Parts: sequence; structure tokens; C-alpha cells
Amino acid sequence: MALYSEKVMDHFRNPRNVGVLEDANAIGEVGNARCGDIMKMYLKIENDVIQDVKFETFGCGSAIASSSMATEMIKGKPVSEAAGLTNQAVTEALDGLPAHKLHCSVLAEEAIQAALKDYRRRQEEKN
Ligand code: FES
Repeated sequence: MALYSEKVMDHFRNPRNVGVLEDANAIGEVGNARCGDIMKMYLKIENDVIQDVKFETFGCGSAIASSSMATEMIKGKPVSEAAGLTNQAVTEALDGLPAHKLHCSVLAEEAIQAALKDYRRRQEEKN
């Protein structure tokens, strides 16, 4: 059996939503201290809906595939739904990751959580 699913390879080779979102109103950056990979998530949220999302990942192929898939899963979704996205859901959507690469999908979940935390902080500052 191949180590990586076709979906992982597809999202690694053709990542969706890569780049910087200039008008983002929520940004989250996380890293994994052990492997040194870094993921940055940009969200544009309007009326509590994620209108647009982009990411930059300096890391392994699984981290790139996970962030790509995660952005697809939260785009157009309410903040409440995005907040519930788990790394398990991302991994399942990718048709699995090798056990030693599961932490790469955790990075995607954490990057979204960090961006949503930034969004809430900015909302509170406005009020
Ligand atoms: Fe660390 Fe993939 S090896 S995020």
C-alpha cells in the first residue's frame, strides 16, 4: 500500500488556498517545536461566516496537504462550525495519514483555532 493516499498527494502537489490574504481579519500562526514546521492561517470573516481563507505552511508535505484540506473544509462555513473542525476530520477527508504524520494535521486544527482566537480578540477590542 502506498504510504500516502491520492488525496494527500493531490493536495500536496496542488494545494488550495495558498498565500497571504491581504484583507484578513483573523490570523493564526502555530508551530511544532519537534519538527520545526510552521503554519499560518489567514481568515476573512464577515457576519460570522468565513468568506475567504488562505494559508502559508513552511513544512512537510502532510502539513501542506492538511492545511489545504482544512481550508477547503472551513471556507464558506460559519465560525461555529470551523471552530469544531478536528484534526481527525481533516485526516479522514485526506483518506488517512501515516501514524507518524498525524501531528501535521493537528497543526492545521491548531492554526484555525489560533486564527479564531485572534478574531474573537479583535471583536472584543472593537466593543
Ligand atoms: Fe511536522 Fe509534518 S513533520 S508538521
